[in-house]
Amino acid sequence: MRRDTELDPGLASEPEASLEASLRPESLVEFVGQHELVEHLSIVLGSARSRAQVVDHLLFAGPPGLGKTSLAAIVAHEMGASLRVSAGPVLTRPGDVAALLTDLQTGDVLFIDEIHRLTRSVEEVLYSAMEDRRVDVMVGRGPSARSIRLELAPFTLVGATTRTGLVAAPLRDRFGFVGQLDLYDVADLSAIIARSAARLGLACTEGAGRVIASRSRGTPRVANRLLRRVRDFAAVKSAPGIDEDVARTALEVFGVDEAGLDKLDRRILGLLCEQFAGQPVGLTTLAHALGEETNTIEDAYEPFLLRAGLLMRTPRGRVATEAAYRHLGRQMPGGGLV
Ligand SMILES: Nc1ncnc2c1ncn2[C@@H]1O[C@H](COP(=O)(O)OP(=O)(O)OP(=O)(O)O)[C@@H](O)[C@H]1O
Ligand SMILES: [Mg+2]
Repeated sequence: MRRDTELDPGLASEPEASLEASLRPESLVEFVGQHELVEHLSIVLGSARSRAQVVDHLLFAGPPGLGKTSLAAIVAHEMGASLRVSAGPVLTRPGDVAALLTDLQTGDVLFIDEIHRLTRSVEEVLYSAMEDRRVDVMVGRGPSARSIRLELAPFTLVGATTRTGLVAAPLRDRFGFVGQLDLYDVADLSAIIARSAARLGLACTEGAGRVIASRSRGTPRVANRLLRRVRDFAAVKSAPGIDEDVARTALEVFGVDEAGLDKLDRRILGLLCEQFAGQPVGLTTLAHALGEETNTIEDAYEPFLLRAGLLMRTPRGRVATEAAYRHLGRQMPGGGLV
């Protein structure tokens, strides 16, 4: 079994990473929510199993923390296959990906995270690997260089991306199934929290679970993280368990407000409302003003703010909505009190 730090090299700290690993769903039935996607996926997997064939290549797309990496591990688990893990940013040369591919055994699942970040030349190796199960590798240098063709074992490529739009069309078209993950609703997040609390041996009331769920920005990773912070708070305060009051107070202490907005969310809205005085702001300008990467804003923050109806994307840039002004307790420019 692979350690989770390998699945998620970006995780902040070792204890947090291993905790997140212990909370990962291992089979499709344990995977909460995303009902349509799960139904389609179980058909695709079941059909491959009944034909004793490898699964078609799969692409999972959606904002961070919604379960793409978990699904890749689940696919391997459900197919009784080995999982090999890599990521777009580390596969920089065609030789790297060719070596990875030629090393695969029949039925292996190769997971490539952040697949939209592959270079064009690496992508081109994948095209023939995915379609015809072969790679052409160059051997030798200069005038004696020649290309040899290597046949690959039947394998399944599972790609993950934070946005399908970023995956080059020829690559996207070679996936037999594209699963789009959406933000989770409060009921699903409550179920995830209840399951995580049980696994962590925490006494957490249903009401407390709902408080945490409704502040989790539609994201299971955030839900699990907030549950751990509430657990820390309860431990320090020697609370016997986690009830609504403990959850509410703990989340306030950690700067998560009742809409689930964290500091950066509030800074984004604050900038749009105040510094830019309600004018539409381009993504790059906004990212500069916040000292953040444009990708972070676009992938990790905007989906939730858009869904919560606090932010709008207009052709001229991002603007805060009336609800955002109301949430921050500010006055809309040119308008009365909102
Ligand atoms: N449907 C789900 N049911 C239960 N837990 C889930 C579900 N989806 C995600 N989780 C939990 O959320 C955590 C984050 O999920 P995961 O790492 O799979 O997200 P991701 O989409 O790969 O994120 P990233 O884009 O940052 O790589 C997992 O450790 C798991 O505990
Ligand atoms: Mg991931």
